[in-house]
Amino acid sequence: MRRTSAQIRPALAVAVAAALVLVGCTTEPEDREARAVFRAGSADLADPYVPGSGNGGYDVAAYRLAVRYDPASDRLAGRARIEATATHGLSRFNLDLTGLEVAAVTVDGGPARHHRDGHELVVTPGSGIPAGRRFTVDVEYSGVPTARSAGPLGSGGFLHTADGAIALGQPHSAAAWFPVNDHPSDKATYDIEATVPDGLAALSNGVPEERVSRDGWTTWRWSERSPMASYLATLVIGDYRVETGTHAGKPIVTAVPASLPATGPEATSVARTGEIADFLASRFGPYPFDSYGGVVVTDDRVGYALETQSRPVYGPSFFRNGRLNLGVVTHELAHQWFGNSVTVTGWRDIWLNEGFATYAEWLWEEHDGGRSAQRIFESQYAMTDWSRPTLDPGRERLFGTAVYQRGALAVHALRRVVGDDTFFTILRTWTDQRRGGNATTDDLVALAERVSEKPLRPLFDAWLTGTTAPALP
Ligand code: TRP
Ligand code: ZN
Repeated sequence: MRRTSAQIRPALAVAVAAALVLVGCTTEPEDREARAVFRAGSADLADPYVPGSGNGGYDVAAYRLAVRYDPASDRLAGRARIEATATHGLSRFNLDLTGLEVAAVTVDGGPARHHRDGHELVVTPGSGIPAGRRFTVDVEYSGVPTARSAGPLGSGGFLHTADGAIALGQPHSAAAWFPVNDHPSDKATYDIEATVPDGLAALSNGVPEERVSRDGWTTWRWSERSPMASYLATLVIGDYRVETGTHAGKPIVTAVPASLPATGPEATSVARTGEIADFLASRFGPYPFDSYGGVVVTDDRVGYALETQSRPVYGPSFFRNGRLNLGVVTHELAHQWFGNSVTVTGWRDIWLNEGFATYAEWLWEEHDGGRSAQRIFESQYAMTDWSRPTLDPGRERLFGTAVYQRGALAVHALRRVVGDDTFFTILRTWTDQRRGGNATTDDLVALAERVSEKPLRPLFDAWLTGTTAPALP
């Protein structure tokens, strides 16, 4: 699903295809048409931060996933239905899928050939798919899911735990458990159902649907109706205390491992989700999704939290000192606006996620009776290494302090220069106009200039990419 400029692409492709058909009319029309119009979709999207991730030639609108997972054998058996639109005539196309065996693929119900090429599943339909055509892919697959090796970008994939599993990870993890166009530029809606042994929970994104138990297995259903980037899809299976309620008229689902005390720091921190989301809504504009929540996990391999859509996942390290940690909850909830609803087009713009989520922590600290955002800004400014860029930080520093802390400094610098009213108008306009879509740093600069009626390019350049400390605004 592409909401911004890319939306014109299918129409353009149809026009080109039509023109080619006309040209080919004089001789061997069918032959020429087939050769000229259908070609293979590309095997990646040329994002240098994630070589091989994502695929070209189509745009996914919806994923419908049904997986069954047995913790006793670590085996997952899945069916994935993918609704997509061809953005050029396709002779074949790729999906990302790491490991797992593919038993069958159909396209629009007809058999399709398929083969594997590393992390790619290559699908060749019985006949070419014309540009602009909507098509449905069904994939049946199974196996023991694996994690992609942990690298500088963080570990991600499908972790087998003592009582279940955790599918989680940024910049990618989805391909470890379903076939996917695994890049944030192609957002889609998701219907996820997971069948697990009775007594275990299976938590995922979005609104909880009816739960059904049969023959010792329970199927948990989840529905995420707002466009979601694939790295924000999660599945957490295990022995959890699940609390379901309503917040601000929408379902809220929180889950904490049954092994943790109901009054411990994990449970009491995630219990503040609704309140903190409301605080952020008062600054950023309406909460963008149909549901709320959070999941705490205990597995030490999850050394982070991730803003999985509508239901962040929190690793155990945030609560080790036994105290409430509302900073991390604020951070992951802020991503629901910055990162999840408005999503990067490519990973070079990751500061649009992390700079704003870190800034949200400053706002919360001030609101919560701690230091003011201005004070935090001043102390961060004093300890910043200006040699590292915030924009396009390089693969090794995708989650570095230049992205998080220097990114937040840039946000506050903007606030100082345009003033509070204009600043919050920029933020609300951004989350409103870009809701459900993708954006770039240039888009933000253009919007900030338009709303403030000030030239702001030099400001963003200095705070995002300059190599010396910018003058304090
Ligand atoms: N985006 C996450 C956050 O800021 C943190 C993160 C960095 C992460 N690297 C990761 C999460 C790898 C999962 C996997 O909250
Ligand atoms: Zn973050």
